[in-house]
Amino acid sequence: MIMVILVTGANGQLGNEMQIVAKQSSDKYIFTDVCDGYEKLDITDLEAVRKAVKENAVKCIVNCAAWTNVDAAETAGEIVEKLNATAPENLAKAMKEVNGLLVHVSTDYVFGGDLYNTPCKEGQKGTPTGVYGLTKLHGEQKIQAMCCNYVILRTAWLYSEFGKNFVKTMLNLTATKPQLKVVFDQVGTPTYALDLSNAIMTIIEDYKKEWTLKPGTWNYPKTGVYHFSNEGVCSWFDFTKMIAEFAGNTACNIQPCHSDEFPSPVKRPSYSVLDKTKIKETYGITIPYWTDSLRLCIERLKCL
Ligand SMILES: NC(=O)c1ccc[n+]([C@@H]2O[C@H](COP(=O)([O-])OP(=O)(O)OC[C@H]3O[C@@H](n4cnc5c(N)ncnc54)[C@H](OP(=O)(O)O)[C@@H]3O)[C@@H](O)[C@H]2O)c1
Repeated sequence: MIMVILVTGANGQLGNEMQIVAKQSSDKYIFTDVCDGYEKLDITDLEAVRKAVKENAVKCIVNCAAWTNVDAAETAGEIVEKLNATAPENLAKAMKEVNGLLVHVSTDYVFGGDLYNTPCKEGQKGTPTGVYGLTKLHGEQKIQAMCCNYVILRTAWLYSEFGKNFVKTMLNLTATKPQLKVVFDQVGTPTYALDLSNAIMTIIEDYKKEWTLKPGTWNYPKTGVYHFSNEGVCSWFDFTKMIAEFAGNTACNIQPCHSDEFPSPVKRPSYSVLDKTKIKETYGITIPYWTDSLRLCIERLKCL
């Protein structure tokens, strides 16, 4: 049986990696975004979402679209809540109506207001410190209130060979600057969007297997919130050192500094490590170590 899967925000970092991994699938993928080059779909428009789902007999939506500019979210106004909270609610509504699955991506920035030094579990209370994290938390809550089949994947420090991200910025800076200061007092785990896409494919395959056995109205037993990043822990300083090393940018003198040397509108979590036990046990996946994935991404970037 062929399942139809609609991907939103296909022109973003994660959306582009989804296009790569979906090439190995026998299912039908429809890649959508608000820009040219894709099927046009603005996910803030509920009727447009419903139409796309109905016309294409969509049974699963992977939501890669979001407002992702953390600092600009502070002053951007209503659009941030609309895109990060109301739009996921639209997608959940559309999937509820056809008994499909919504795979939605959220963020470690739903945490950060409380001080802690152990990896965050899925049930930990959300304590966002800014508009981006707050609106992403609202998006999760709206999906959960819809009682559809859903998998919410919280991820962190996302990078890929596509779009703008920390890895690409640091590749450029370490190649062109004689010295650089990077914060060492914020710790987390990078996530290669290709690895996240592979995890999403595993979830879709699992859902399809269960759905094929039980057609009609049913509840996906693995519905819930999961954490996904690469394995390991590092600071932004350590991350930058590895980026420079893998790229061969040895001339740049990279030094650690404190966050207060780079004031920003939003306070970043000082310890933002996600506990991934639940996704590994539920879906039986093995997650690559962060430096292995970083090396792979930099190799792929060299080929572009
Ligand atoms: N980036 C990170 O470090 C990070 C960390 C943790 C979690 N996440 C989460 O991971 C997910 C993927 O992030 P990403 O970095 O891949 O995002 P991204 O690169 O910013 O891509 C988002 C895509 O959504 C599109 N979009 C904007 N408004 C839309 C609308 N109304 N309808 C449909 N599409 C729309 C964007 O188009 P335009 O570019 O034209 O606006 C863009 O192509 C997001 O949910 C994000 O919150 C990201």
